[in-house]
Amino acid sequence: MIPVYQGCLFRLDAHFERLENSLALTRIDNPYTREQWRENMVPLIDNTKDQYIYMQITRGAAEKRDHAFPLGVKPTVFMMCNDIAPFEGKSAGVKAVSLEDNRWGLCNIKAIALLGNILLRQQAVEKDCAEAILVREGYVTEGAASNVFAVVDGVLITPPKNNAILSGITRDVILELAQANRIPYAEDILSLDALKTASEIWLASSTREILPVIELDGELVAGGKVGRLWQAMNGLLQNYKITYAEENTPS
Ligand SMILES: Cc1ncc(COP(=O)(O)O)c(C=O)c1O
Repeated sequence: MIPVYQGCLFRLDAHFERLENSLALTRIDNPYTREQWRENMVPLIDNTKDQYIYMQITRGAAEKRDHAFPLGVKPTVFMMCNDIAPFEGKSAGVKAVSLEDNRWGLCNIKAIALLGNILLRQQAVEKDCAEAILVREGYVTEGAASNVFAVVDGVLITPPKNNAILSGITRDVILELAQANRIPYAEDILSLDALKTASEIWLASSTREILPVIELDGELVAGGKVGRLWQAMNGLLQNYKITYAEENTPS
């Protein structure tokens, strides 16, 4: 899912890199070059509004149902666009629940096989929460469809990139903005116990941008108020989106 702000595909090369990596790990031939992908997206873009482009690629249409790869098939591509609707209640913060991360071991692959994530997100929704924060052996991995950040002892922490998480494009942008603005940060393991002492918790994704969590497992986070660092980082992200579009739109 690639956001398009003011007609500009946001961090397109990072999305391509992750797509290429996921296709390689899934052993699906990449049907297009980056330039061809871009050309396919252009007719979907409307410069007058913020949108996202969503695409799915499959290995191909098999004649016979089997788990082993079908031979001689061509990858299928589906692409669509939609308006980006601002996430309601973003500036007031959301509730989250911690759940055991029972997904498989290759969460670094962006795939359409999302059953684990879906069942976990649904459990969160049924607890009146916007997201499930997933925990494996006592340590936070990520959200059901987001990356997790926490401010602990004044340091912005997010779990490191490995097979337990999908490396988010938004996550990378936040870390770059932290570095550029001298905000202390670390990519480090984060226990659920440490998360519960955090002065701020955020969820990051292309769809929801940076979402402050004000309640975790029924307990208020820092008194239930949206934190100052979130205010600052959200402002930096909004400015960055504008600058990025200005600098990356062909004149
Ligand atoms: C499991 C998971 N982690 C993290 C993310 C955040 O990735 P991005 O910032 O690239 O949207 C997503 C987004 O779909 C996700 O599904």
